[in-house]
Formats: sequence, C-alpha cells, structure tokens
Amino acid sequence: MKKIAPSILSADFSNLSQQLRYVEIGGADIIHFDVMDGKFVPNITFGPVVVKAVRKTTKLPIDVHLMIENPDSFIEDFIEAGADFISVHQEEVAHLHRTITRIQELGAKAGVVINPATPVSTLSEILEFADFVLVMSVNPGFGGQKFIASTLNKIKQLAQIREEKGLKFEIEIDGGVTTENIKEISNAGCDIFVAGSSVFSKDNISAATTELKNLIS
Ligand code: DX5
Ligand code: ZN
Repeated sequence: MKKIAPSILSADFSNLSQQLRYVEIGGADIIHFDVMDGKFVPNITFGPVVVKAVRKTTKLPIDVHLMIENPDSFIEDFIEAGADFISVHQEEVAHLHRTITRIQELGAKAGVVINPATPVSTLSEILEFADFVLVMSVNPGFGGQKFIASTLNKIKQLAQIREEKGLKFEIEIDGGVTTENIKEISNAGCDIFVAGSSVFSKDNISAATTELKNLIS
C-alpha cells in the first residue's frame, strides 16, 4: 500500500497538534520529521523533545529524517522519544551497516538517505539490510523547493534492483512532491511520499492530504 507522509517542517508550529489532526483526517499514513543541525544542512529545526511531544498526540508512525552530523550519537534519543523510522544520510555515515543494524536493534525501521547528486550505486552493499531508502528530490534543508526531475531515475533504478534481487526495502521520496508529479513518481516505483508545502501551505490541509492520497491509490 502506498503511503503519504506529511512533513511537519512546513506546518504551523504554533498549532502543531491541530495541524496533525488535519492531516490525520485527510488520511495521512506517516508523520515525517525533518531534523536539521545547521551543520549538515544550512538550517536548524528540532530535536527529540518535539518527537516526544508529538508522540503523545498521534498514533501515526513517526518517520525521523536525520539531516545532522554524526547521527549515531542521536539515534537512541530519537527512538526513546518515539520514532518508528530513522533515516540517516549515506553522505554522513562512515559505518552505514553498523548504524542501520543498530537502529533495528533499538526497535525502529532503518532507512538510508541519498542527496540528489549521490548515485544509487553507493547503496549497493546496504540495500539488503535497509528497511527503506529515502531519495532526496531537493537539496536538503528547506521545504517548498522545486522537484529535481533527474531524481525520478533513481526511483526507477531502485525499483529495478529491488525486483532483480528480490529485496524488500521500501522506496521513499522527499522534496517538491505535488499533485502534478506524484502519479509519475508512484508509477516509477515509489512507496512513501513525503509532502510538506503541498499539504501544510494549502488552505484546506485535510483536502490537500486526501487529494495526494487519491492520486497514489
Ligand atoms: C527537506 C526535507 C523535506 C521537506 C519537504 O530538507 O527533508 O522533507 O520538508 O518539503 P516539501 O514537500 O515542501 O518539499
Ligand atoms: Zn525530509
């Protein structure tokens, strides 16, 4: 089943629990958390304390995207706070196999993220171990950016590898997903669709969520 994962980066933080209600009503499947440290990416967002707060207000799985240096040192804190999925950037982790297995040992699903300029081939030795691959279709750091069309080929490549090798990882796309491109991304083999501004910048957040969901069902 294909899933919509609204990213709270674009939400109104002064009314976060109400914004979460809206996406839940709209049929959201996962809540995407963009954690940024101002070093790995040129922006700072939030830490485990916000995951902990949101954990109390929603039953939806929490998908934590770590755009931080040295993510190993924060994995435990985020899982303790209630994260169900943790993804780390391939560009930032020296011992990816150890990190992925450690996330899984701590009870969460483990994902690896690749930036737009990072080839799928860099994942060849980790795909059999990862629960999901998060393909960045924008340069990480901000919501509301334009979808980088060339990243669609990476979705296709990953879907083909998964098929050929009989692997089980899910494919997640992140950045610039809208009603205009979501169908094409879905047809390329994507399973999970992060959507920030195409949900939270709309007047009717629930309807925007439902519209995206209907386009992938
Ligand atoms: C960017 C984040 C994305 C972003 C998506 O660094 O990883 O999750 O919030 O926002 P939109 O959907 O507006 O591109
Ligand atoms: Zn993200």
